[in-house]
Amino acid sequence: MLVHVTERPQTDVMSAYRARIDEGVIQPDPVQRRAAERLHELWGRLRGYDPHPKAPPNGWLGRLLNKKRVDEVPEDYPSGLYLVGDVGRGKSMLMDMFFDAADVPRKRRVHFDEFMQEAHATLHRMRTDHPGTDALTALAGMIADQSALLCFDEFQVHDIGDAMILARLFEALFSRAVVIVATSNTLPDDLYRDKPGYESFAPFIALLKRHLDVLVLDGGRDYRRERVRGVRNWYVPANGMAERALDDVFARLTDGATPQPESLTVFGRKLPVPCAANGVARFDFAALCAQNLGSGDYLALATHYETVLIDAIPALSPDNFDEARRFITLIDALYEHRVKLYASAAAEPAALYTAGEGASIFERTVSRLEEMRSEAYFALSHLT
Ligand SMILES: Nc1ncnc2c1ncn2[C@@H]1O[C@H](COP(=O)(O)OP(=O)(O)O)[C@@H](O)[C@H]1O
Ligand SMILES: [Mg+2]
Repeated sequence: MLVHVTERPQTDVMSAYRARIDEGVIQPDPVQRRAAERLHELWGRLRGYDPHPKAPPNGWLGRLLNKKRVDEVPEDYPSGLYLVGDVGRGKSMLMDMFFDAADVPRKRRVHFDEFMQEAHATLHRMRTDHPGTDALTALAGMIADQSALLCFDEFQVHDIGDAMILARLFEALFSRAVVIVATSNTLPDDLYRDKPGYESFAPFIALLKRHLDVLVLDGGRDYRRERVRGVRNWYVPANGMAERALDDVFARLTDGATPQPESLTVFGRKLPVPCAANGVARFDFAALCAQNLGSGDYLALATHYETVLIDAIPALSPDNFDEARRFITLIDALYEHRVKLYASAAAEPAALYTAGEGASIFERTVSRLEEMRSEAYFALSHLT
């Protein structure tokens, strides 16, 4: 979604930050305050920032042919910021404050996964329609024409496909004076660590660190967790009250964001996520375990969402072996990736599946579900 700003923002970052504290919406936090000050400084340098405001040549092909166009980086081109820390530290909140206040005519805030999906789709289209052209440079030109400031939420490198285009794409964006601010759970040096092709990814990390100042938010408090502290995670039975309790959990975890349908791409297929916002997804048990889904789908969910809500887990009988088997695989994936789980169910975990094929394997699932209820588990960081 491209955000067109018709009116210039009326506030600055520090005023917005202080206002929230004065209104009692957030608590004062020295680490956040320092981050807000850095964002404020960048806010100041970016007032009216509009490199290359001239109209872009006709479409990307026009730009490609227009070889004379020289992109000059302005002298005052500032470094961007990379806000990194565990979940719930206020990274997205601070970046959004900055984004809303940023007095930059062309600016865009986007979840990084969405940005990359768009990038891959556009590249694919360009390469199909015009083989032999430098689609990546053209894409960077297009992006730079639309936005002089890009704010990426949850910067993450998932696979070799992303890793392969990032270096050239970002190089081209920086050469067009695009300023990038990002939030991430992962330090630049740990992005894509130990994954295949890591060595060839190193230049991208160096590039990122050259253009973005890394700001660690390590205040030690998980404010998101604090919003749901003391809230139960397993509701029995799965009645209307349980459903409303999960509505409330969803609202607390997402700051009341409107749930939207999303979809994940798994091996080129679309996996629909009926209801999601801010890293939280909600499903009916049937949509997850009564359909032909497998470990690849559950893995995608587990890496993409830090919290999953499941409505109406039924008591499973020997006739439901397929459901039970999928549920086992699902819980394994969620557990291994430290995904936080909230559910409504017909019974406590130990009483869900007691007889039938695989009932003994289900004991491991019960033990994991019990562990997933503990404070200690909720304190673990999501593994993406
Ligand atoms: N200082 C604070 N006091 C109270 N709530 C806060 C504070 N900082 C952040 N929050 C809240 O904590 C939750 C998590 O913040 P968020 O910015 O989403 O974290 P992150 O992006 O680091 O995971 C949000 O609901 C946010 O409004
Ligand atoms: Mg966040």
